Amino acid sequence: MAGRTGRQSPAYDITPDEVLRFCDFLYRRTGMSFSEDKRYYIDRRLRDRIDATGSLSFQAYFSLLRADADHEIEQLINSFTVNETYFFREDHQLKCLTAGLLDSIVSRKPPGGTVRIWSIPCASGEEPYSIAIWLLENWPQVDSYNIEIVGSDIDTRALKAAAEGIYRDRALMRLSRDIISRYFIPISDDRYQIDEGLRNSIEFTRANLIDARDMATYRDFDLIFCRNVLIYFDDASRRQTAENLCDCLRPGGYICLGHSESMSRISPLFSVSRFPDAIVYQKPEADHG
Ligand SMILES: C[S@@+](CC[C@H](N)C(=O)[O-])C[C@H]1O[C@@H](n2cnc3c(N)ncnc32)[C@H](O)[C@@H]1O
Repeated sequence: MAGRTGRQSPAYDITPDEVLRFCDFLYRRTGMSFSEDKRYYIDRRLRDRIDATGSLSFQAYFSLLRADADHEIEQLINSFTVNETYFFREDHQLKCLTAGLLDSIVSRKPPGGTVRIWSIPCASGEEPYSIAIWLLENWPQVDSYNIEIVGSDIDTRALKAAAEGIYRDRALMRLSRDIISRYFIPISDDRYQIDEGLRNSIEFTRANLIDARDMATYRDFDLIFCRNVLIYFDDASRRQTAENLCDCLRPGGYICLGHSESMSRISPLFSVSRFPDAIVYQKPEADHG
């Protein structure tokens, strides 16, 4: 029978045991930990994928998933991620960047050296573009160094949107009219595209924070923004993430986390570094072993 949404009631059930098996599968691949209290969220997305693949039961879908037929794992992950983000989110950390943090980073570099910044997860790109705009607006030394900004996420659909750089009003709510006019091209009443120069200056790549092999291809970052993802992980995935990120940083490099996230509770690999605008975490300068 069609419900209020017009969706047909499926001819199959998903048992609590199957939900558990599914959550375990998703957890092992993404680090995201869903429990029974998210049953509605899980059910809706899972049924969408079962229907989209024409599977006739959970069991049939799960077999297809385990064989990764038609790259179904990628589609599944894309449909389970929470991509909430916007420009200049938690801007005290951006202030911190240009009021001390970057000075500390470049004090160890030769003139004209390269500063590597990683936004992971970057979702649909608002965070790495915010970093770039903030530096252009607020860091007088921006032209004296070679700044490389990389944006990465596990969600390939979000990454496609990031590379396209098209945003609606809501994502831009914290930007002044002046900034919008300088870095965006209006393309319709409520849609704006990041200008081409800025779009081309950021590299977007897929990366999985909990996959050590994946993360081994990323090295030598001076600063990593890893904000608002650890809240979806359990302690084991958080620890794995901390270890992976530590390997991606140069000695003395820094990590910024989201406002409700703390490295101290997760891993002893970093020391706390207090700046006037924000607390960040620092990898030791060198191994003292
Ligand atoms: C709420 S957004 C955070 C975006 C941005 N950092 C911010 O704070 O505005 C969370 C992002 O984490 C990504 N994500 C979830 N698990 C991941 C993993 N294992 N590796 C990389 N990204 C992941 C999701 O795809 C989603 O885009």
